[in-house]
Amino acid sequence: MSELNKIALKIISDGKGILAADESNGTMTKRLESVNITSSPENRLLFREILFSSQSLKKYIGGVILYDETINQTTSFGKSIPNLISSSGALPGIKVDTGAKDLANSSEEKITEGLDGLRERLKRYYELGARFTKWRGVYNIGDKYPSKLAINSNAHALARYSALVQESEMVPIVEPEILMDGDHSADTCLKKTSEVIKKCFDELISHNVDLTGIILKPNMILPGNHSNDKISSEEVSQKTLECLKNSVPTEVPGIAFLSGGQSEIEATENLNLINQNNDTKFIMTYSYGRALQQNALKVWSKNTKDIQSTQNTFNHRVKMCSLAAKGRWSNELENK
Ligand code: G3H
Repeated sequence: MSELNKIALKIISDGKGILAADESNGTMTKRLESVNITSSPENRLLFREILFSSQSLKKYIGGVILYDETINQTTSFGKSIPNLISSSGALPGIKVDTGAKDLANSSEEKITEGLDGLRERLKRYYELGARFTKWRGVYNIGDKYPSKLAINSNAHALARYSALVQESEMVPIVEPEILMDGDHSADTCLKKTSEVIKKCFDELISHNVDLTGIILKPNMILPGNHSNDKISSEEVSQKTLECLKNSVPTEVPGIAFLSGGQSEIEATENLNLINQNNDTKFIMTYSYGRALQQNALKVWSKNTKDIQSTQNTFNHRVKMCSLAAKGRWSNELENK
């Protein structure tokens, strides 16, 4: 077993998953302002240190993805953020892409940037304690999208990123996200997601990336958020498994889904059924941002001094997601 494979397994085994707390300052500002909190470095740190000091980190979270600002911050009680995370047994991770920019010659699409100077930045993040990283390619579905140009160029960037990250002895999370926006059917999402993931693996293999030392972070197979095609959680799980069985090489140790705009309950229920129906060797778990933090943020915004209620809300959500990662979640447990 390679060191990278060991790190990947430590993050996602035994019902553990990933807390995606890597919102850029722009995205975090939107999240905080939606609950009437000013987005200052202090407030961003305050909310995050409450989550990172929660009991649930010890039992259910294998890794926390951070943003550059956060990995450099020190908590109000004097501990560095990477130390706070490691002291609960989870591994600190870091988002290393610098965002999705307009793709030249295909103005409705995006290309994720951040390769320039990446080798040097990775060295610094490793010294700060990071042991895994994230890079997100983003694709929209439309009549002509995602285009071959967007599929190929984002896959190429994800592969170059992954090779550099493994060279730095960290595990790359490979995240090709097909957005939920639009009126497409779940079958269109299945077809496009499969095409995108297959191309990513073609490029990862061409760049000699060790597939046993990565974690794939895909979207689930869902109809667009403006689609009339409403499908059950059971169908979501079947289509998601079909997609992954056909497009992910068996060497990959695990898959940690993004929540992508699903509600907390939807993301939990869908993951639960994926695990109940999982007839693959892949570990299937969560790498959720909004679906782990939404309710905790609402509770915190009502009284930013009420750390206990914020942590209780977060602990419950994480526990439910961990049960779902083992296929043991139920409505009864959710409402207990
Ligand atoms: O890149 C996406 C985030 O890490 C996951 O966020 O679960 O809110 O989609 P989400």
